[in-house]
Amino acid sequence: MTAFLAILFSYLLGSISFSYVIAKKLRQVDIRQHGSGNAGATNTLRVLGVGPAITVLLLDCGKGVAAVYLGLWFTDGNSLIAATSGLAAIAGHNWPIYYGFRGGKGVATTIGVLATLIFYVALIAGIVAILSIVITRYVSLGSIIFMVGSTILTIFFWDFFNYPTYYIYFILVITLFSLWRHRSNIVRLVKGNESKIGAKKNTEK
Ligand code: G3P
Repeated sequence: MTAFLAILFSYLLGSISFSYVIAKKLRQVDIRQHGSGNAGATNTLRVLGVGPAITVLLLDCGKGVAAVYLGLWFTDGNSLIAATSGLAAIAGHNWPIYYGFRGGKGVATTIGVLATLIFYVALIAGIVAILSIVITRYVSLGSIIFMVGSTILTIFFWDFFNYPTYYIYFILVITLFSLWRHRSNIVRLVKGNESKIGAKKNTEK
């Protein structure tokens, strides 16, 4: 029962879309009608600017961290439930119950989950992803590199880092979530018309 509650609360927590809330508060707009249409930090940067984007990034990341700890606290340290709670928060972010199941792509929340569960993997994949964003200015590419990089590192080093085997299945599911949510970005990246950060502002969807 406590495990179920931890997973349920994590989903409900993940469903709070900070980009949606902050865009409504600051500009009275639905972030999903502007920029890329994504309810996330990158689109907040496009539509609202640096300050709100950093705030959204930290809060969305915090949801992932909180969900993992919720799973641990509710079950006296069961890492399987902690990982499932993290997954539930990411699902909540992507398909939020409060906003018609139209949310974001789950990257910031995933960063929070992975940084709490598998810190070194997230750190290495994060450094590579940030470098790729600095070089290419494609945040979506960096997000995909972060997810795929975390998966590869987890598969190859789970024994070295002493991770439970089921982390491999979790990271695979989380990465599939992310690739699915980034499918339109992938098409634009292949066609060469993905938007770069710092490019001329076009906030209309
Ligand atoms: O985290 C989302 C990012 O990877 C892409 O966002 O708004 O460019 O689709 P966006």
